[in-house]
Amino acid sequence: MAWKVSIFVLVFWKWMIVAMAISHPIDQSPKAVGEWANNLRQEKVSKLHFFCHHLHGTTAVTIAKAATTDASPTLFGLLDTRDDPVTVGPEKSSERLGYAQGISAAASLHEISSFDPFTFVFTNEEFNGSSLAVMGSCPLSSHSCEAAVVGGGGVFRLARGVATTKVYYLNFTTGAASVEINIVVLHY
Ligand SMILES: *[C@@H]1O[C@H](CO)[C@@H](O)[C@H](O)[C@H]1NC(C)=O
Ligand SMILES: *[C@@H]1O[C@H](CO)[C@@H](O)[C@H](O)[C@H]1NC(C)=O
Repeated sequence: MAWKVSIFVLVFWKWMIVAMAISHPIDQSPKAVGEWANNLRQEKVSKLHFFCHHLHGTTAVTIAKAATTDASPTLFGLLDTRDDPVTVGPEKSSERLGYAQGISAAASLHEISSFDPFTFVFTNEEFNGSSLAVMGSCPLSSHSCEAAVVGGGGVFRLARGVATTKVYYLNFTTGAASVEINIVVLHY
């Protein structure tokens, strides 16, 4: 099948530890961000747990491939874009937390492996308007992998951390996959 699972395509389970709750919209104007930067204090650690759901052809589509991709055993050069729903539990119908939006590139000549730069865009009440930027490479064979949290917005400004992902469900016939994601992140 000419689709690949990307790392972060699993199901979000639940938030395990939440560092801070916000009850009002975050001011994202340049002035407000400047004032925020002048008042940075102790960093805190947040731990998040959730699931991401992938359906090839629907929440993820192929946008480009190389002339040689179809002949490549590792689909090298295949590029997808995605907007996968993120939920609290492993069921797609569980509470929606947001979306995983980004691209997946088949970026290995040696094995089927997905390079994924993307953003978790939160839309739930607690983190509405906040985001986490993640980047990593994940071989399909591993079924679990580790990626870097390289930044964020809103309550996750200046975030850095680690995202570990594990395939929760995978069906090559339908192109559906769910990925369980754990995130440990430092932020202010
Ligand atoms: C999130 O913020 C948007 C824009 O401010 C708003 O329209 C929406 O109702 C908010 N959602 C929740 C769940 O608070
Ligand atoms: C994959 O989906 C097909 C079509 O719904 C189903 O027949 C098959 O049993 C599924 N396979 C797995 C491993 O879930």
